[in-house]
Amino acid sequence: MKKISLFLLMTALFMTSCSKKNEVVKMGTNAAFPPFEYTEGSEVVGFDITMSQLIAKDYGKKLEVVDMNFDGLIAALQSGAIDFIAAGMTATEERRKNVDFSEPYFSSKQVIIVKADNTSIESVEDLEGLAIGCQAGTTGELYVQDSIPNADLKSFKTGIDASLSLKNGAIDAIILDELPSKEIVKRNSDLKIVDDDFCTDVYAIAVRKGNKELLDSVNKTILTMKANGAYEKLINCFMPVDGNIVIPASESVTTDKIVKLGTNAAFPPFEYVDGKDIVG
Ligand code: ARG
Repeated sequence: MKKISLFLLMTALFMTSCSKKNEVVKMGTNAAFPPFEYTEGSEVVGFDITMSQLIAKDYGKKLEVVDMNFDGLIAALQSGAIDFIAAGMTATEERRKNVDFSEPYFSSKQVIIVKADNTSIESVEDLEGLAIGCQAGTTGELYVQDSIPNADLKSFKTGIDASLSLKNGAIDAIILDELPSKEIVKRNSDLKIVDDDFCTDVYAIAVRKGNKELLDSVNKTILTMKANGAYEKLINCFMPVDGNIVIPASESVTTDKIVKLGTNAAFPPFEYVDGKDIVG
């Protein structure tokens, strides 16, 4: 069912002919952050990638995905090497000085990963003075720098690199976003997650400061996705079933006015009935 839903979504995506389809819009990401972005063979896939395809389609351009180090994304955006960032990037006030963020599209938090047999780390307070691994340039790294007294911070290119270091005992713990952490632990039975609520993250798309045309278009796509069921399909397709998925409320929707749309739900993939819902 998941596969069929995504197939219908993608079919709708590619059946749409777009006027400027030879022009590209470049999206920057760091494909070591499943389920948001990761590689399958030579292909970069994930929640953010499919969402970016919808963004590019609505913007009337072809999507080009540029995979790079996470801590180089904002500079790449500022220099014009990429047009937007879709990388599970948390919309922080500090980053807002350098980029414009879209509507939020996902709510997450930081968690702690430790060895499965560790019994001494039960909360973030227990990390004081320990060697902690993070992905360079992330909010997890910032949290360690600002909030863990005497931490011996070790920054890695990816969370996966940090996990290798944790497995061989070079560090005591990792601080990383929840869902990528769950993916790491799923693949490594010698690691576990310590679930403590100490830092929340809300993900958004970043565009170059002042690029209102693209920002408006991205926001329109996100709002439409949330309203028409495409967002839910992406969640069903990429997210773990046991994950407590929170869809953040959109900042700009402050009205409870209703707009009525007429359709005939017998025309898949554009509109059709799925259970008691009209989707497409
Ligand atoms: N949410 C965190 C941040 O914005 C981590 C994002 C890492 N993303 C990635 N694609 N590696 O700092």
